[in-house]
Amino acid sequence: MTPAAAEFITPLTLQALSGNPVHTDLLDHAAEAAMGHIELARWADAVIIAPATANFIARLSNGLADDLLSTLCLATAAPLLVAPAMNRQMWQNPATRENIVRLEARGVTLLGPASGAQACGEMGPGRLIDPEELVQAIVSAGRTNRLAGVSVLVSAGPTREFIDPVRYISNRSSGRMGYAMAKAAEEAGAAVTLVSGPVSLTPPARVSVIDITSSGQMHSEILDAAATCDIFISSAAVADYRTREAAPNKMKKKDSEPVLHLEKTPDILAEVAALPNAPFTVGFAAETENLHDNAKQKLKSKNLDMIAANRVGDGLGFDVEENALEVFWPGGTQSLGTAPKENLARQLMEIIVARYREKTAEQSHEPAETEVSD
Ligand code: C5P
Repeated sequence: MTPAAAEFITPLTLQALSGNPVHTDLLDHAAEAAMGHIELARWADAVIIAPATANFIARLSNGLADDLLSTLCLATAAPLLVAPAMNRQMWQNPATRENIVRLEARGVTLLGPASGAQACGEMGPGRLIDPEELVQAIVSAGRTNRLAGVSVLVSAGPTREFIDPVRYISNRSSGRMGYAMAKAAEEAGAAVTLVSGPVSLTPPARVSVIDITSSGQMHSEILDAAATCDIFISSAAVADYRTREAAPNKMKKKDSEPVLHLEKTPDILAEVAALPNAPFTVGFAAETENLHDNAKQKLKSKNLDMIAANRVGDGLGFDVEENALEVFWPGGTQSLGTAPKENLARQLMEIIVARYREKTAEQSHEPAETEVSD
């Protein structure tokens, strides 16, 4: 809340109604210790200023950083959405018009204003749009059509390799990165299928989900679907080994130490990448050491179009909200700094879209193979 907002409603009221902390001061030492303005700026998936006064719009268009909100707007990489609310004369004033043109040229999305009766008794443009419209506009502002007509297959979560009917070998994958990738692909307009291991997440809207448990099930579902998809994003933490045979009944506790015979699981990602009409394939690599070398080696050995590598261990990687990625593709690399997984997924999706477009453009310029008959 800006000081002007706090003149209308107290921070305590908004905190009590929303159940969320309210940030007001740039140099609030208690808040800075918990989450400073830079962390707040990084944390946000989108920054929405509602209502935005003529004064704040002027300050935003000039890049001022003299309070928490203006500083946060400068420090964030998230989309900025502004819902103006002011008197109609102020809205129509050339100074405001110029500020709005500048903001739109910078990619800021304008939500409204609506026209009608104003608090000052006048009629005209400058009313804050209704809350329902605001929510709708925020939802659709994140959507693009960059992958319209493209089908994307995403794998997510862990697999379970059964030892007996009640015991299994698995891993700490939460599925969050895969679910975030599915959501980002759907927001980009793609038709998305998500093949998911057992996780406790709600699937994104408008995504068709195939639930699996073991690596064997994931293998057959992915290979079925891969034949008709354009992009395959392999975020699942597929078990590398499974029990050769699961015991039909619960194994009894004995005095001797049991021995589990394990066999390698098929590398689903490498198999998809080796298909004759392989989709654009994106792998993930969780590494505890030599991140760059290991990721590049996997990119090559599995013949992928792209690999996103993250460091795991020391509280990073698995089962956490945030992540950071190093993305590699043949001939290029890009670092994506620490951010919530949903935010990171959107950034990674942008890179995938750009490379996918480049690859399909290259393929359409390649001369068609001519058949030689004797
Ligand atoms: O070789 P590594 O397991 O580190 O490679 C990780 C990538 O390979 C991930 O994208 C993962 O989804 C995929 N993978 C797979 N099948 C396996 C093991 C890993 O598709 N059996």
